[in-house]
Amino acid sequence: ETVEWEAASYDMGGHDTYMHKEISEQPDAVDRVLRGRIDDRFSTVHLGGLNLDAREARTIRRIKILGCGTSYHAGLIGAGLIESMARIPADAEPASEFRYRNPVVDPDTLYIAVSQSGETYDVLAAVQELKRKGARVLGVVNVVGSAIAREADGGVYVHAGPEVCVVSTKCFTNTVTAFALLALHLGRIRDLSVTDGKRIIEGLRKLPSQIEEILKTEEQIKEIAAEYAGAQSMMFIGRVRGYPVALEASLKLKEISYIHAEAYPASELKHGPLALIEPALPTVAIVPDDDLLEKNRAALEEIKARSGRILAVAHQPQPKADHTIVVPKNEDELDPILMGIPLQLLAYHTALAMGRDIDKPRNLAKSVTVE
Ligand code: G6P
Repeated sequence: ETVEWEAASYDMGGHDTYMHKEISEQPDAVDRVLRGRIDDRFSTVHLGGLNLDAREARTIRRIKILGCGTSYHAGLIGAGLIESMARIPADAEPASEFRYRNPVVDPDTLYIAVSQSGETYDVLAAVQELKRKGARVLGVVNVVGSAIAREADGGVYVHAGPEVCVVSTKCFTNTVTAFALLALHLGRIRDLSVTDGKRIIEGLRKLPSQIEEILKTEEQIKEIAAEYAGAQSMMFIGRVRGYPVALEASLKLKEISYIHAEAYPASELKHGPLALIEPALPTVAIVPDDDLLEKNRAALEEIKARSGRILAVAHQPQPKADHTIVVPKNEDELDPILMGIPLQLLAYHTALAMGRDIDKPRNLAKSVTVE
């Protein structure tokens, strides 16, 4: 059983697919998730529906984020944002795995359920089980009034607007941005300084125009996609903040092009997957200009030494890469929000070149409301 959008009721606005429309809408969508929430006086953000006062927020000892598919990947980035800004240990796990392993539910842990639709059964069932055991659960949800939003003790709406394409693009970006807001909020209640709060707020404000910049690279990405459209398989690598970006980019490519793809932490290459590297297996590498730049460049050298083709997403051209998609630099913490966007376009143009049904990939549903 699946939830079907009334696709006909949403205008395509001159785009050939909903996916392309939704990718293009991201500057406005991100503007919406920020709107009315920034508090410059205290260098923080207000999140009206959290139902978590400052005293309670200070007692949280861990954060566990649960979601499925793209929402799980957004949760992985969210966990990194929370750890770096609020210094609360945080991690993400697929909701279905969590449910079936009889998890230890800890009263000092804050649980966060992530879902575009707010109806995914595995996530809803995890929330209900957590509530039954007395845990506090927040939702980071797109669809207002959905089952998960109603079941949660509070949360943050993502405000991406309706998403019709089966694969998620703008909702992913907005969910990650919503996590940045939550991380800033929790951080400023705890130990994040005013200076860092201001720095993050400035970074958040830059996001919509920086996404506009990224969307201008579409022609370049289309040319690169034409080259990769015949590949049997592709490797995606990233490190720390870049790794969930690699996971999500690899999922997007699989879902709509049906090219096999896998994502690895760049540091794990040498522990196995390096054996796969040869000219027929292209690698997409996330290479942000941060304190891990030299480490990431070393991984590119290892791949090049084995004649692997490389597409880098980076803040400056990478000499070892065959192609680099250059994206604008933001604050280190916020870079992952931007670095996935060109790879949505890569998946899109690769699938288009292969004649795939982009908005309705085979075997997949927008929302999985059964076990
Ligand atoms: C389905 C969709 C995915 C989506 C996942 C979670 O598998 O095909 O694109 O990421 O469900 O959906 P949710 O609505 O909970 O974010």
